[in-house]
Amino acid sequence: MSIPSKLPQVGTTIFTVMSKMAQDFGAINLSQGFPGFGSDPVLLELVAKYTLEGFNQYAPMSGIPHLREIMVEKTERCYGVKVDSETEVTIVSGATEAIFSAVTSIIKPGDEVIVLEPAYDSYEPSILLSGGIPIHIPLKLPDFSVDWDRVRSAVNYKTKLIMVNSPHNPTGYLWTQEDLNQLAALISDRDIFVVSDEVYEHITFDGRPHLSLLTHPVLREKTFVCGSYGKTFHVTGWKIGFCIAPEALTKEFRKIHQFVTFSTVTPLQHALADYLKTPEHYEQIPAFYQKKRDLFVDGLKESGLSFTPAEGSFFQMASYAHLSDMSDRELAERMTKELKVACIPVSAFYHDHKDDKLIRFCFAKEESELQEALGRLTNLASLF
Ligand SMILES: Cc1ncc(COP(=O)(O)O)c(C=O)c1O
Repeated sequence: MSIPSKLPQVGTTIFTVMSKMAQDFGAINLSQGFPGFGSDPVLLELVAKYTLEGFNQYAPMSGIPHLREIMVEKTERCYGVKVDSETEVTIVSGATEAIFSAVTSIIKPGDEVIVLEPAYDSYEPSILLSGGIPIHIPLKLPDFSVDWDRVRSAVNYKTKLIMVNSPHNPTGYLWTQEDLNQLAALISDRDIFVVSDEVYEHITFDGRPHLSLLTHPVLREKTFVCGSYGKTFHVTGWKIGFCIAPEALTKEFRKIHQFVTFSTVTPLQHALADYLKTPEHYEQIPAFYQKKRDLFVDGLKESGLSFTPAEGSFFQMASYAHLSDMSDRELAERMTKELKVACIPVSAFYHDHKDDKLIRFCFAKEESELQEALGRLTNLASLF
């Protein structure tokens, strides 16, 4: 039987393909974005405690009050912004759900949504399922900054939403105050909203702060900020995150959220609420990842790839354009099979698979694993 697909263009994602290939060929998997190390035992014990104590039934639809209240404190501490726990904070089943519910709450058939590419792969299907039209704007090479002139010229009366992501996957680009100001100037007197994917908010390098869109008075009024505890605390399998948005947006957001998942795993919410009471638990994350990024970029110099060290996220992108014109997908596959290091071809992050001869590595791995991978990458030239 065949049914008309609502997403005919969607197949198995490259992340699944490369991870499977890494497994089949015994390669070190630097492809998919998940940490190769465990979380803090303190957090794991809190989950065990709340599970055993019987916190196992449905949580309130918007999240347990205790966790939402701690998020108010955390948001004020990190970004100097006071949000309301009752009307502006919602706990959801991962940032993917936050992004989906935010897009669905705004987009009607025929509405246009600006997507800056390369982009995380969940944005496009979320837009299409609501009948929205993605308008793709490439980021500017070589640094992958936002081309504000192109964004401005794409805006018209049909534009309803702009998808943004900082720290950025896959490029590692970190938004500047100028980026925030440009976006604010663009939407301040238009009916355009923003979905801001900030899942790597705590992974920034070289002392650069993450500038949440919440910090800008204009953007704060029009933005769904989507975050992920899974990314921050090395527990991506928990699929738990949050959405912070002004009351009017949150009201619509929750109408969708309550029929997508209704609520999110109860003992995890209690555990995270306790864990987040100690700010060091998230304040130590940048230093933790800085060591890994430094180790990785130092070693990557030996491979012959060209790159600018990531400013944020746990990804390092690198170019081989000066070495070969092989397609990025072929290179990723051959690296996995022959060098036994798996990465992601960056063309997977473009709707039209634009191939700029770039690959992405995830360096959220144990140091020994990174060192082994870097040793193997010194033989990269053998592939060309
Ligand atoms: C940019 C970006 N947004 C969202 C997500 C998904 O986050 P979660 O696992 O909390 O759904 C990811 C995961 O890779 C990501 O890289």
